Amino acid sequence: MRVPMIAGNWKMNTTVSEATELVKAMRAELDKIGNIDKVICPPFISLAVVRELIKGSSIKLGAQNIYFKEKGAYTGEISPLMLADLCKFVIIGHSERRQYFNETGEIVNKKIVSALRVGLKPILCIGERLEENEAGRTEEVVTEQLRSSLTEIDYLNGLMIAYEPVWAIGTGKAATSKQANETIGLIRRNIAKLYDKEIARDMRILYGGSVTAANATEFMNQPEIDGALVGGASLKADQFLSIVKQTSEIKQ
Ligand code: PGA
Repeated sequence: MRVPMIAGNWKMNTTVSEATELVKAMRAELDKIGNIDKVICPPFISLAVVRELIKGSSIKLGAQNIYFKEKGAYTGEISPLMLADLCKFVIIGHSERRQYFNETGEIVNKKIVSALRVGLKPILCIGERLEENEAGRTEEVVTEQLRSSLTEIDYLNGLMIAYEPVWAIGTGKAATSKQANETIGLIRRNIAKLYDKEIARDMRILYGGSVTAANATEFMNQPEIDGALVGGASLKADQFLSIVKQTSEIKQ
């Protein structure tokens, strides 16, 4: 019922030529894998080039960030309209943006509103920090992040959520699949409260944080987990392909 999805978040990695090489190394194989949404999110400066490289394939394109103003004197920013012209998806509220660029719940909310307005599909990232996890505050934190991010948003246009415990991102220390499944179940129940049961049932919720070809099967075997947002392993063609293949087989 929910189409699984693997999204590769390349973060601030790859020059335009490296991005080109990476896409060329994956394109044909990735294109063949069915039953699954395959999304790659290169840096802004490579979006236009990658878009051409994946033309005619089943691979989809996403951005890693957005600014919430439509246009104007905001030097260095990238607007929703610019992105909508190039790609379908946009990652919003990644923990690295919250941590290093002071993105608050209010800013994340504005970014989601602006993305939805132009028809982009947001991948909203939420997740607790290590100290919050250790203090048993995971539920409280993700519930509050959901509430603030989705304030006064009625129409979600296929918005997806990526549950990414901050302590599992880029650390090689993934959450256990059971923990991730439980928290994603909780997120789904919260969506049902904020919206309704059907919306919650149909919403794709991904896990993110040190997903690799070696642990993907374990996560994808969990019923609440609909896919993954992959960082480090998405920069290696063979790893990314393997994660996508495993997911498509498990979620048939
Ligand atoms: P990671 O990053 O797979 O390198 O842990 C995941 C993410 O930040 O989306």
